[in-house]
Amino acid sequence: LQLITRISHSVETNDYEMSHTQPITEANNTITTDIDVATAEGIVTLLRKCDAEIFDGWEGHKGLFHKETMDKLSKLAILARDMLQNPSGYSIVLSGCGTSGRLAFITARSFNERLKNSGKEPIYDYLIAGGDKALFTSQEAPEDDPHIGIKMLRESCEGKKKVLYIGITCGLSAPFVAGQLDFCLQHLDKFTPVLLGFNPTYLARNLPIEKWNKTFLQVVKELEAAEHAGKGFILNPVVGPEPITGSSRMKSGSATKILLETIFTAAHSSAFNPEVPWDIETLFRSYQAVYNTVYSHTESVGKLVAIAGDSLQNGGSIYYIGYDTLGLMGMTDASECPPTYGATLDDVRGFIASGYNFLRNKEGDLSSNGKYFRISINDFEKDILPSLKDRDLVICLNTAKSLPSLAGLKESRCKRVMLTFTELPDEQLSKFDFVISLCLPIGDATLEPWQQLHREIATKWVLNAVTTGAHVLKGKVFQNIMVDLKVSNNKLFHRAVGIIEGLGKTSKEHARMFLLRSIYHTEHLTPDQLEAPIAQHIKVASSQNKIVPVALVAAILNSSIENASLLLDSKPVIRVAILQALHSQETDLS
Ligand code: F6P
Repeated sequence: LQLITRISHSVETNDYEMSHTQPITEANNTITTDIDVATAEGIVTLLRKCDAEIFDGWEGHKGLFHKETMDKLSKLAILARDMLQNPSGYSIVLSGCGTSGRLAFITARSFNERLKNSGKEPIYDYLIAGGDKALFTSQEAPEDDPHIGIKMLRESCEGKKKVLYIGITCGLSAPFVAGQLDFCLQHLDKFTPVLLGFNPTYLARNLPIEKWNKTFLQVVKELEAAEHAGKGFILNPVVGPEPITGSSRMKSGSATKILLETIFTAAHSSAFNPEVPWDIETLFRSYQAVYNTVYSHTESVGKLVAIAGDSLQNGGSIYYIGYDTLGLMGMTDASECPPTYGATLDDVRGFIASGYNFLRNKEGDLSSNGKYFRISINDFEKDILPSLKDRDLVICLNTAKSLPSLAGLKESRCKRVMLTFTELPDEQLSKFDFVISLCLPIGDATLEPWQQLHREIATKWVLNAVTTGAHVLKGKVFQNIMVDLKVSNNKLFHRAVGIIEGLGKTSKEHARMFLLRSIYHTEHLTPDQLEAPIAQHIKVASSQNKIVPVALVAAILNSSIENASLLLDSKPVIRVAILQALHSQETDLS
């Protein structure tokens, strides 16, 4: 009987698995299907509902409060605690691509600062695909290279006795992380590998990785075996699809930040304040309370989204000015706009305190790479402030009791907004056109030292709403799909094919052809172009604009690439161009 039950269970599981082949992180969230026609405040209301799934779960999945996840977090906190108490030769390495790598950096930086400030040895390290440049500009090609990942991990762990490695890839998909996990699995005497992401393991990516012999799914299977043997961990709570399809910087990014900080807050508390009890659920609840506070200001955040939308629609820019770690949230938020929305590097920028001195990133001052790498508030005052226009928007992110002066801001014609976490005197507030004042719950007194982490995630939620909402209002999104994404790595290539396939109502193969024709600007692909590896298509596509919208419009109309480009030139708002294409297709059919 047991055998029959087991067999029928496995048949059910396989049936389920067969019918669900799309990763949850790449699926459409039905809550936001109409986000593209929502008002600014309506957009924030939809984001609020989507973000609730981080805590409440999605379609039967339990979200962060999943018991198995909480148990694994407790075990990881104990492992990290032991390393913190006896740090010599030990290292905790956090690694990822894009926003996942930025969150790795932010977390490593934050917990190292705590150690240094109390005279202890810093033991955290971060790795990000593309190196430190990727901390504030998207560098997506290196995400596809497992060998670069392995090389970076080897270098960072040289001479270490034991390493707790956490590879973050929200979609369970990044080859950069796959290589590192595989390397750890081959050296389990030294490494404890942890995979952090937001899909069930059977939905890990099972596509070939160029110049490598495994898929991500194969690595996950090996890690599952290691986990059963007590030598690794897979942290993969389901938090539901993203509000903008595939935009893992949003919910998955927030959940990543909460999970990492929860592990290390618990580890630090138990290592250095053993008399203070901690438990994972209480820590999660403290983030949930922050979520509730942020979204109780939906109306104000909606106003800010409307202001930001006006700026972008009128050709203006959005600038975040952060005087402390809140600036890291601004820079991270800004860095995702070009790959997600086809934005220019000038559309949204983040500036932070004393720049690299404050950042303390491994590669130091990168400002010689050009204007987009000038990131201090001083740089903002010199490069940007004198030429601000009324269509530009400056958002100051503040935790201090008294706001540092920003020479010339008051006199500037731009719009000035402040997001603050403290009460400020009226005379300071009067410098701003609009102020959002968030008073976060203090909660349990033991959580007090971690308040800045709460301010950070609150800032993340507000700024994600600002840039998502502003780009939606600018017409960069159709339904809840980012139709103007950059085709700058393998995952994004496949995502683009999926978008053309779905909205263009065509086969995968045809969708791929439309995409290639748009990339190579041709109606007839040559044999070389047809046979080139995806990496080659990405190389050609990366520097170009509107590749996906052109391919999509051509697919909808079954037209030439040239005609689709002309239509998009005449209708610069992408959503409007797509609507027109769909409308003329319907008219043709009738
Ligand atoms: O490839 C671009 C990107 O989608 C970024 O937008 C994102 O932050 C990054 O990949 C990381 O994705 P993942 O965490 O799933 O590896």
